[in-house]
Amino acid sequence: MIARKMLTGHTPELLRRKCEDFLARLAKRFGDMKGKIEISMRPEVSFADIGDLAHAKQEIAGLVFALQSPDLHKKWGTHPPNGVLLYGPPGTGKTLLAMALAREAEAVFFHVRVTNVVAKWYADSLEVLQEVFTQVKDSGRCILFLDEIDDLVFDRAAPEEMRTASRRLVSSVAEQLDDIGRSGDLLAVASTNRPDAVDPTLIRPGRLDRLIEVPLPETEGKREILKIHMAKAEAIAGRRLFAELDVDAVLARTVKLNSADLAEVVRRSLEEKVQQEGAGEEPTPVTTTDMQRAIENYRKTKEIIEKIRYGQYL
Ligand SMILES: Nc1ncnc2c1ncn2[C@@H]1O[C@H](COP(=O)(O)OP(=O)(O)O)[C@@H](O)[C@H]1O
Ligand SMILES: [Mg+2]
Repeated sequence: MIARKMLTGHTPELLRRKCEDFLARLAKRFGDMKGKIEISMRPEVSFADIGDLAHAKQEIAGLVFALQSPDLHKKWGTHPPNGVLLYGPPGTGKTLLAMALAREAEAVFFHVRVTNVVAKWYADSLEVLQEVFTQVKDSGRCILFLDEIDDLVFDRAAPEEMRTASRRLVSSVAEQLDDIGRSGDLLAVASTNRPDAVDPTLIRPGRLDRLIEVPLPETEGKREILKIHMAKAEAIAGRRLFAELDVDAVLARTVKLNSADLAEVVRRSLEEKVQQEGAGEEPTPVTTTDMQRAIENYRKTKEIIEKIRYGQYL
């Protein structure tokens, strides 16, 4: 705590209040911030909640270290990365990694959901984001997470006026990234599932110059992720919820499912038990067959769920 206070010049309590005031001020000018810009003093996600992704986790651990020991880079005549881009398919853990980074580094987590910011404010996004950049520079050790940064660029089919606004937005963010790159206490992290759509100016040296891939899990990764989510549910319930599963037989049905899908399948297998108990039955723990059925049912609705989740229905 003492180290933290010296580092930021603010006590954690003061910092929390400043962040709350900031959000309240923004909300007054621009409307509700929920789902668009949120600040967490200590995100709930830690490395133990993230399965697979050994390489990405190792890179993130390096960034934690860089944030915690800024002087070490200087000692070796170099400086930590200015910014990071996490890229990979949807539902692979990019947002989780950013949160875990903030938690492990004891940094405040500014979560900017670029998609929602731009969808809500269009041209005013520039001003909103500038306010955020000003605030992060005065928030001690923090992670500025620009989630789904490819959405800074408005739809190509948009009118010329909007595309001009979009170009201004990108160059403003690029400038701001240059600026914050020089401070050791603040790290910009962005994510995208469409790396080809990210404006190249954003990944120039001095901006988001560290690229970390967050790939889909393969079989062993999926096994780990399933276990994490099963263990989490059991920890909440405080009892065994799953029978001895034939995990291979379950995994065999998970072709094309991503990590978020696996979490959802676990949830659905439990949901079914809730329904059964609600109907007056006495359900057994989740079996292999239950899990396989949950997967098949989930597959039937996945397409629709994805369209909604990734905004194609907006
Ligand atoms: N590697 C992972 N390990 C465990 N759970 C994961 C992992 N990746 C995704 N999930 C699950 O999927 C959900 C969505 O993940 P998220 O990090 O938002 O994906 P992304 O940002 O890559 O689209 C998480 O809340 C978690 O339940
Ligand atoms: Mg995400």
